[in-house]
Amino acid sequence: MPIFQFSQDVAIDMGTCNTRIYVKNKGIVINEASMLVLRVSGRHSPVVAIGDSCEEFVGRSNSEYKVVRPIRSGIIVDYENAQIMLHYLLTKAIGSRFTFKPRAIVTIPGLANAVQRQSLINVLGKSGVRQIHVVEQSYAAAIAENNAGKNEKATFVVDIGAGTTEAALISLDGTVASRSAQMGGDLIDETIREHLDRRYGIEITERIAEQIKYDLTDVREEENQDRIAVVRGRDKATGMPFTQDVKTSEICRAIHPVLMNIIGEIRQVLEMTPPELCEDIMRGGIILTGGSAQLPGLDALIVDELGIPVSVGRVAEESTILGAGAMADHFEEIVGQNQTGKPNG
Ligand SMILES: Nc1ncnc2c1ncn2[C@@H]1O[C@H](COP(=O)(O)OP(=O)(O)OP(=O)(O)O)[C@@H](O)[C@H]1O
Ligand SMILES: [Mg+2]
Repeated sequence: MPIFQFSQDVAIDMGTCNTRIYVKNKGIVINEASMLVLRVSGRHSPVVAIGDSCEEFVGRSNSEYKVVRPIRSGIIVDYENAQIMLHYLLTKAIGSRFTFKPRAIVTIPGLANAVQRQSLINVLGKSGVRQIHVVEQSYAAAIAENNAGKNEKATFVVDIGAGTTEAALISLDGTVASRSAQMGGDLIDETIREHLDRRYGIEITERIAEQIKYDLTDVREEENQDRIAVVRGRDKATGMPFTQDVKTSEICRAIHPVLMNIIGEIRQVLEMTPPELCEDIMRGGIILTGGSAQLPGLDALIVDELGIPVSVGRVAEESTILGAGAMADHFEEIVGQNQTGKPNG
């Protein structure tokens, strides 16, 4: 039993866009881009950057370097590079001279299947974690944002990240109803790119598309009467740099179907809600978490569509890692000492 007192308990959230690591008694110590840069050279492609240090390579057209994102829609798609990235970030989080391997609470999207779950467990195992407890993202977010202090029996949380949207109704006994879909901020950015390409023949980078999204002051078309976004890209016809003024209301119209699909996911979970919890939801409302919850006006759009109060979480972008971190703080009670490398469920 005493051996556990020397090991460190951590929480890990390997998101599509960002990887976060929480260390017990310290809080979030890592919040970096889920990214690696490889130098393309013959049969070997050495890693030259991991995490935030990849920033300088993004959006540069340089055939010598390749940017790799090992997580897509919250799922590991590049096993080897996910492992390299996690090992590096974990070492950065807890130091390279730790004697005992850490135990980890790790988040996963609800849409992950058994094989994808096992891949995640394997990657963690090979990265130096000795005991792993898997928890769904929405459950972790609900723990961080829970309504317990407000006397509610259940929390309705919608985590909208870069690659996934997770809507879930969580009660004291666990998940009552949930849905998980492959859509989030990345899809919104991609939709902006496709629209500008189709309408104006202008090619823009992922970063510019994301910036256009950040600059929106409200995602509702009617709230954007005379505002203009100055879009910088490349004219597809001439290959020359090109600047185009675009009405922000037009951008909002283009991304509206994606937002409506996200709202459709929420609606479906609401329809699964047992009648005895409906009053709780009407009182506590829907809590939005994840980076994309910060899209201005998204909360108001959901209120318009569903007629239920909506708020953006207290710790929006960090809800999943803080919820998982709260579990890591009480690892013993949550997982027990004898469970080794097994997911919960
Ligand atoms: N202020 C903001 N307004 C709009 N979108 C934002 C804002 N801040 C971050 N985002 C978007 O949030 C997303 C990143 O959120 P988050 O860190 O929760 O994703 P993730 O956890 O990596 O992804 P996932 O959980 O889907 O695997 C990106 O798409 C980013 O563009
Ligand atoms: Mg996330």
